[in-house]
Amino acid sequence: MQTMRRVLITGANRGLGLEFVRQCLARGDRVFAGCRNPAKATALQALSADHPGQLTIPPLDVTDEETIAACVEAMRSQVDGLDLLVNNAGIYPRGETPTTLNADTMLRAFHVNAVGPMIVAKHCLDLLRAGDHPKIVNISSKMGSLWWKEREGGGDYSYCSSKAALNMLTRTLAFDLRSDGIIVVALNPGWVQTDMGGSNADLTPAESVCGMLEVIERLTESDSSKFFTWEGKEHPW
Ligand SMILES: NC(=O)c1ccc[n+]([C@@H]2O[C@H](COP(=O)([O-])OP(=O)(O)OC[C@H]3O[C@@H](n4cnc5c(N)ncnc54)[C@H](OP(=O)(O)O)[C@@H]3O)[C@@H](O)[C@H]2O)c1
Repeated sequence: MQTMRRVLITGANRGLGLEFVRQCLARGDRVFAGCRNPAKATALQALSADHPGQLTIPPLDVTDEETIAACVEAMRSQVDGLDLLVNNAGIYPRGETPTTLNADTMLRAFHVNAVGPMIVAKHCLDLLRAGDHPKIVNISSKMGSLWWKEREGGGDYSYCSSKAALNMLTRTLAFDLRSDGIIVVALNPGWVQTDMGGSNADLTPAESVCGMLEVIERLTESDSSKFFTWEGKEHPW
């Protein structure tokens, strides 16, 4: 029988992050739902009322290391280990062309999509080491795949390159954490109906997250450093 998993999800107030929270709560996990503004996270507050003692909503901006440290301290006071970190928070700057590229926009995307997940992981390491079959799941995108880029063409410089950086960081961290038994993977959630994905996307958040949680459950140490689709197929880099 699976014991209660202890889970941290970033960017948990809407979209895929919120759906991760819903499905993790439904299966009985102890969930920490990090978001930038808990006071305005009405969907999370409603879930907290429905699941007393199961959900904490710490303030967490993945570009602000003070909030990351405070979030992990708050977790440490409530649990003695972490079994799953889902680095989900992300941004997607639109409309970039080679002549309109903006350094601040690019750096912001790198900070949120690639650097932030690493700094969150850094602060969680002690708790993860004390976790049960601990895993770090970085929510990437097919748009971070060099293989896909060759087929689908240009544009979206900040998003694609920051997700490609996240993929490389996933492999690097997986290598360094192998001796700790911490599994690190990148996951492509598919094209999903969220604010980011838009209403024409292929999948509902429920479908995507259900698939991803099944993939995460099946991960073994030999899967660490790999890139998977939401259905569990290996994704080309
Ligand atoms: N939807 C898709 O089709 C799709 C496809 C491939 C990959 N993905 C990836 O899946 C993940 C979730 O995407 P989504 O579709 O759910 O996007 P979304 O609906 O736009 O939600 C993004 C989430 O990230 C949070 N966030 C943004 N900047 C943050 C920061 N600095 N610190 C903490 N949280 C921050 C947002 O919080 P606020 O409400 O405070 O802004 C929000 O909770 C992202 O990494 C995205 O790149 C999505």
